Amino acid sequence: MSAIPLEGRPPPLRADTARPWPRTEDLPPWPDAPPLLSIRDLRVWFDEGGRLVPALRGVDLEIHRGEVLGLVGGPGCGKSVMGMAVLGLLGPRALLSGDIVLDDTSLTTTSQQSMSQIRGKRIAMTFQNPMASLSPVRRIGSQVMGAIRLHQGLRGAAARAEAIRLLDRVRVPDAAGHMRAYPHELSHGTNQRVAMAMALAGEPDLLVADDPDTGPDTRIRASVIALLREIHDDNGMALALISRDLEAIADLADHVMVMHAGRIVERAPSSVIARRPRHPYTQDLVAPLSGPADRRRRIMPIPGTATGGCSFAPGCPHAATACHSGAAPTLRRAALDHHVACHRKD
Ligand SMILES: Nc1ncnc2c1ncn2[C@@H]1O[C@H](COP(=O)(O)OP(=O)(O)OP(=O)(O)O)[C@@H](O)[C@H]1O
Ligand SMILES: [Mg+2]
Repeated sequence: MSAIPLEGRPPPLRADTARPWPRTEDLPPWPDAPPLLSIRDLRVWFDEGGRLVPALRGVDLEIHRGEVLGLVGGPGCGKSVMGMAVLGLLGPRALLSGDIVLDDTSLTTTSQQSMSQIRGKRIAMTFQNPMASLSPVRRIGSQVMGAIRLHQGLRGAAARAEAIRLLDRVRVPDAAGHMRAYPHELSHGTNQRVAMAMALAGEPDLLVADDPDTGPDTRIRASVIALLREIHDDNGMALALISRDLEAIADLADHVMVMHAGRIVERAPSSVIARRPRHPYTQDLVAPLSGPADRRRRIMPIPGTATGGCSFAPGCPHAATACHSGAAPTLRRAALDHHVACHRKD
């Protein structure tokens, strides 16, 4: 069988070919398109009274135009820190190293002024807690219109019409009526949609959706994911979907990156990762949460104090002596387009 060329698209397969269709996971990624966002060796520490506590320990990732990338991991592994770092929202106690590049602009060295033009307009974020984007003392109509004025320059009746259109777009019922409501009068799910409408006001190239599937009601969680899918299909923006729940986002994401204790431990197309997880931590995430108690315990938060070795080693059923010391394992290719950071898989 001739090799699939790595440059350009593979030749079309003829129906009468004797060659079997390649599986999606065996196809190489298209190498020709430059990424929209590229992150290289991103490290973040928080200054806790003079002590530097690591939150991200060297993360690399790329998101291409129109791609949906899932970022999955347990509580405290650094998912939100990653999203906030991209938007330059970590605040003065955070120290960063590495590079974050949007097209040709390095976001780590760009001025505050140009960052504020990128934020919302090129990259927007919906936060885990929608109240982080909403003021409790302003009616939601005025808040959505504020975002529209900022990003689209519309005012008055035009801004109002656009606000109603956006609220309608994110399925806020009776959008015109809800314009007069305050956030405390609305449910968590509706506030989440309002925050999403504000994020869409700038028609960003990339939307970072932090935990869109939170909330007590599974039906509402599923409908938020369905809404994101619709919006993505409509305007083709790239999506970075942050979640603790691999299953919730696997259908929507093209690729999934699994994060543990500030590092990416596995990266693959989502169908592959859901069907054939290779890292023991991902295997725990994929396994039903009704599984044995020790499995549930292993995906609990990992304190940011782990020193040498693999951060998952203390809870890993496959850990060998080498896993507990030395350098943390780095991502290596386990199959085409499937990368795993695990000493035991080398
Ligand atoms: N502003 C901050 N100051 C100090 N430490 C922080 C700050 N923000 C996050 N951290 C720490 O960084 C680590 C990663 O936090 P992060 O919020 O990214 O976790 P997460 O993966 O989003 O978890 P969850 O699923 O619970 O949202 C945690 O140990 C957290 O305590
Ligand atoms: Mg978070």
